[in-house]
Amino acid sequence: MNTEYITWDRERGYGEGERERAAQILRRGGLVAFPTETVYGLGGNGLLPAAAAKIYAAKGRPSDNPLILHISSPEELPPLVRRIPEAAGKLMETFWPGPMTLIFEKAELVPRETTGGLDTVAVRMPEHSGARELIACAGVPVAAPSANLSGRPSPTSAAHVREDLDGRIDMIIDGGSVGIGLESTIIDLTEEVPVILRPGAITEAMLAEAIGEVRLDAGLAGRESGAPPKAPGMKYRHYAPRAEMTIFEGAAEAVTERINRLAREYPADKVGILASEETRERYPHGQVVTAGSRAAGTIGKGLYGALRTFDHLGVEVIFSETFSGERDSEAIMNRLRKAAGHRVETLTGK
Ligand code: TXA
Ligand code: MG
Repeated sequence: MNTEYITWDRERGYGEGERERAAQILRRGGLVAFPTETVYGLGGNGLLPAAAAKIYAAKGRPSDNPLILHISSPEELPPLVRRIPEAAGKLMETFWPGPMTLIFEKAELVPRETTGGLDTVAVRMPEHSGARELIACAGVPVAAPSANLSGRPSPTSAAHVREDLDGRIDMIIDGGSVGIGLESTIIDLTEEVPVILRPGAITEAMLAEAIGEVRLDAGLAGRESGAPPKAPGMKYRHYAPRAEMTIFEGAAEAVTERINRLAREYPADKVGILASEETRERYPHGQVVTAGSRAAGTIGKGLYGALRTFDHLGVEVIFSETFSGERDSEAIMNRLRKAAGHRVETLTGK
């Protein structure tokens, strides 16, 4: 398949007739990758079972992993769900459009192929105006998982999407680098107390302030609980670079010292080190990649790109600093731990 490329720009929007062309591909059951404020999505018509099948095939994703329906305005929600709990109203008012996905009991209209066979459906209204214009123009809810091959880090630029999906989908909309870089916060509203299934830029504290009580999914709260995560996608090995990665937690100096000691056991071109702008100079031996700046709060935005860079460098092993304490640290550390297959070494002492 020949993949068509078009561009969207914050000032100029879409080129003449291009939004309509992209929307028509979606309506007719084709696949279009588009930018959102979190990560790039791989869009298909959310009401067509055949479109869901194409999405799973293009990504190489297991078809029991449900898709998020993207809408362009809150009025598009009622036909998709059986009821809208009170907490949902408050959350939508406070955080939509934005990086928040809500899970409801699904209406008949939504095919089970889209929801991975579940009776519930995930819905999000993105903030990105290019995304919303596209959805509005398509006139259907747009089912969109992250636009990466299954198991690879989510794409935060059109170049990442091309790397994974060129030739496998109809169109890629290049809207430059995304703003947030980590996927939306997911909240399950089908329980008595709303449950966070995936941490994101909308934090537990922000949610609690808006609606009072929220809980963390047992599978997130601590791996010790042994409970399986409730969002099916959270159980798969995910966001993973090809090399084995270990995260080092502890005081900054102890982390630097330990990473440097281990790094010297490898040829410099075969060892990757994940650091920040503030700490990159501390590592004389190895391929140092920075996710972003701690001070500027850009670690989340650069994390997935950094993981992809390690693949291009062809390193055999990766040692990562910890980023707890930074902006979006809950979401950053959740993704980083998964990328590391939960290999975390905690350093004690000085
Ligand atoms: O920021 C985002 O949410 C991005 C952009 C494109 O909007 N999308 C995204 O989709 O991250 P995806 O498919 O990569 O991740 C969706 C997650 C999966 O872990 C899936 O299992 C979970 O949401 N999910 C979807 N529907 C669900 C449902 N009905 N119940 C529980 N979990 C659900
Ligand atoms: Mg994904």
